[in-house]
Amino acid sequence: MASKYKNQVSSIYIKDSDVPINKAGIKSSEQIHELEKELLFEAYEIFYDELNEDTVFDENYFIQLHKRTFGNLYEWAGKYRDFNMSKDESKFCQGMYVNSSSKKIFDELKKDNYLKDYEHKSKEDFAQKLAYYKSELIALHPFYELNGRITRLFFDMIAVYNGYKYIDY
Ligand SMILES: Nc1ncnc2c1ncn2[C@@H]1O[C@H](COP(=O)(O)OP(=O)(O)OP(=O)(O)O)[C@@H](O)[C@H]1O
Ligand SMILES: [Mg+2]
Repeated sequence: MASKYKNQVSSIYIKDSDVPINKAGIKSSEQIHELEKELLFEAYEIFYDELNEDTVFDENYFIQLHKRTFGNLYEWAGKYRDFNMSKDESKFCQGMYVNSSSKKIFDELKKDNYLKDYEHKSKEDFAQKLAYYKSELIALHPFYELNGRITRLFFDMIAVYNGYKYIDY
């Protein structure tokens, strides 16, 4: 099986493989997973260290998480897809609406002050908001790959900002 994804117009994978074409020239699935794991680990340290009062969890921040974590490995890091994508029975946002739908989600998040005021509010309310926006971003599925990991990184940084630990799924 080439990939879990269907309807892929522009394929990022090496032919007959689940390994994305990459700048490191890696062809082995095990090796690419290991490298992705290391890059994500480093990203957690970098973005954790960069967190401060003024951090804004806007669309640019979200895109930069993807770009800066995987930009040395993948040409498409930090870029939104414009083709349709689905996984099993789930259809993600249609390619042609990814940009506008993303704007809508982040406009709404802005109205919620990017979830920056939850340190002294109810944990349940915070959890509900996190769950809502996480579902929205997963349904959007804006990137070619690595949506799950970058979305989790995004909400982990928001959790830490509010004095919580990384989210235990
Ligand atoms: N059948 C499905 N229907 C809807 N959403 C799904 C389905 N399977 C996976 N997902 C969501 O898509 C995410 C995976 O997307 P993608 O492969 O782009 O990211 P990833 O970072 O490589 O994956 P993972 O989250 O497994 O590390 C999962 O984290 C989950 O939230
Ligand atoms: Mg994946």
